[in-house]
Amino acid sequence: MLTKEILSSFKSKADLVNFIKDHQTDHPTFKAALEKYYYEQELLPLQAELVDFQHWVQKENKKIAIIFEGRDAAGKGGAIKRFTEHLNPRARRIVALNKPTEIEKNQWYFNRYIKELPNAGEIVFFDRSWYNRAVVEPVMGFCSQAQYKRFMIQVPEFEHMLYESDTIIIKFWFSVSKDEQQRRFEKRLKNPLKKWKFSPVDEKGQELWDEFTTYKNQMFSRTHNAFSPWVVIKSNDKKRARLESIKYVLSLFDYDNKGSNCDSILPDPNIVQRYFRNT
Ligand code: ADP
Ligand code: AMP
Ligand code: MLT
Repeated sequence: MLTKEILSSFKSKADLVNFIKDHQTDHPTFKAALEKYYYEQELLPLQAELVDFQHWVQKENKKIAIIFEGRDAAGKGGAIKRFTEHLNPRARRIVALNKPTEIEKNQWYFNRYIKELPNAGEIVFFDRSWYNRAVVEPVMGFCSQAQYKRFMIQVPEFEHMLYESDTIIIKFWFSVSKDEQQRRFEKRLKNPLKKWKFSPVDEKGQELWDEFTTYKNQMFSRTHNAFSPWVVIKSNDKKRARLESIKYVLSLFDYDNKGSNCDSILPDPNIVQRYFRNT
């Protein structure tokens, strides 16, 4: 057993790992500790790369918007947390808007998102985005079909205008299987620290799974463009999803000192998948 005494005798994480290796155990507690160790070994250098990337964004006055979309419990928030953990908070923002107010409901749909777009030298992380109107809103009945249709026509035009004004948009879809979503909902409800994440919209995630799928496919086929492609992150393994989505972002840019903190920033194609039409 991994008792408190044994645990506290380790001076470093490496001691823990050596202990586990020496004892050749596949006890779940040890396995989990080992996995966590290897995950951190991989995450920290990538976060250091992100620091270099952010420095370059500031120096070159780049405007970067990274959109995190996906079903409920896909791991969007967790990924954003790891992306932003070690960045300078002055040059990055997280945008997680509430449901629209009465005033916002009567504005042009993109209005409240435009206010949040990155300024020069800034990286903005969108935890959900204008794409609410492509999937959640029509599935849940929060918008009319007319509003949905107008949105689907406007979104490529909107993103093209952003592209022309040098705003770089990265669009992630975090993809989970139906069983995995159910498991995460159950965990969420049992965990007092995560209960807040479970909402009335989540409740419908399983029941309306196929409706979500239909709208998701429409969204891919109609809003995937060379200037704003969709990138699917297979997220049944949360930790891999975080590591690989970070690598994907890094792989897109030629920032200074690229690769100085880790050997490989090439994303795993089994986890990171560009969307292709008719596939
Ligand atoms: P999240 O998954 O972001 O934690 P929810 O699952 O509660 O949040 O809701 C999903 C999205 O739907 C959120 O962006 C939320 O603001 C939006 N939403 C919830 N209720 C409404 C509503 N009545 N009208 C429009 N959008 C809504
Ligand atoms: P989603 O993209 O979240 O709508 O997921 C669509 C379908 O892809 C699900 O019904 C799953 O069957 C499958 N899927 C998504 N992610 C994974 C994964 N990481 N491993 C296996 N199947 C997956
Ligand atoms: C997460 O961060 O785990 C989810 O994707 C966010 C959510 O389901 O509300």
